[in-house]
Amino acid sequence: MSAKPICTNDFEKHAKEVLQRSVYDYYRSGAGDQQTLADNEAAFRRLRLYPRMLRDVSVIDLSTSILGQSISMPICVGATAMQCMAHIEGEVATMRACRSVGTGMMLSSWATSSIEQVAEAAPGGLRWMQLYIYKDREVTRSLVQRAEAAGYRGIFLTVDTPYLGRRLDDVRNKFKLPPHLRMKNFQTADLAFSSKKGYGEDSGLAVYVAQAIDPSITWDDIEWLKGVTSLPVVAKGILRADDAREAVKHGVDGILVSNHGARQLDGVPATIDVLDEVVEAVEGKVEVFLDGGVRKGTDVLKALALGAKAVFVGRPIIWGLAYQGEEGVKEVLQMLTEEFKLAMALAGCHSVKDIDRTLVRRDPFTVSRI
Ligand SMILES: Cc1cc2nc3c(=O)[nH]c(=O)nc-3n(C[C@H](O)[C@H](O)[C@H](O)COP(=O)(O)O)c2cc1C
Repeated sequence: MSAKPICTNDFEKHAKEVLQRSVYDYYRSGAGDQQTLADNEAAFRRLRLYPRMLRDVSVIDLSTSILGQSISMPICVGATAMQCMAHIEGEVATMRACRSVGTGMMLSSWATSSIEQVAEAAPGGLRWMQLYIYKDREVTRSLVQRAEAAGYRGIFLTVDTPYLGRRLDDVRNKFKLPPHLRMKNFQTADLAFSSKKGYGEDSGLAVYVAQAIDPSITWDDIEWLKGVTSLPVVAKGILRADDAREAVKHGVDGILVSNHGARQLDGVPATIDVLDEVVEAVEGKVEVFLDGGVRKGTDVLKALALGAKAVFVGRPIIWGLAYQGEEGVKEVLQMLTEEFKLAMALAGCHSVKDIDRTLVRRDPFTVSRI
């Protein structure tokens, strides 16, 4: 790319140029008609900010905490699978970039680097493990226990994926991993989504999920999970107030409002549109986080104003990786942080505690125009 990126979308343009088509499609796509994919970003644009003036914003403090761990800003990296397709160092590069800017990374169960490799690559770095519950409970238990032993600080249980959403590009491309890669947390070809195994005419990942992931899990499985780990457990993929209350009742330590980057059920609301409903439902009993469509500093400000403790970012991190590995991810995170800092200052907030619900309104006028 010739010009230096000045916003996160510039990184995507570069990724589109350099990545193999089926890989770029896998990272970019949403499910179905991709209505929710568009809405995740559009919904942020429908919100209006109401800044306060004359508040002495000469010093801005972005620091906060998540599940009891300090972070330098409320912007963390979400779980995105198979990062070594974007850059040879994949998840290891992402982890190092997170550590250097003082934030945390959620590692996908489907990473192309192992739990231990990522931990060893950045000692002291804050990391959490994203978990799918496999039909084989011993496999699941072992992922959790390995993460705990390797110093991960929480388990994000994905609750929105009993089956894989229908991502049309992946079906057309019969998506599977390139032959030199595999899911590094698993030993057998059956579990490692290796290209050595035939996956037929469908998206290979959809076939893999149907074979390996347990679609029969219920709220009781949160209690099972709490029984096999002492780490905090966060439910990733909640979109409704009643589910949020149910999650709290079953002992979660946090809720991540997420629609899986619009990759599961198409037609669900944008996450920012349901955030305040979830925040209200949990009555401050657990921390609430948000992901989906966060692309700018003002998006972070809006999410925090509506009650998120922190946000997680998915695709922009992949685009940063494709751009320049660890340095590229660092650039994306620094860009979001600088934008967020400026947004806070212009809104009259000197610390994240100053960000409150009154900063954001849904203008009926704006909604009807878009
Ligand atoms: C390429 C890609 C891979 C993903 N892999 C996983 C995964 O393995 N586990 C999971 O729980 N969520 C996964 N997600 C969802 C993300 O954790 C997150 O919810 C989403 O990317 C946030 O939306 P954003 O990409 O608009 O920031 C993936 C998303 C993308 C784009």
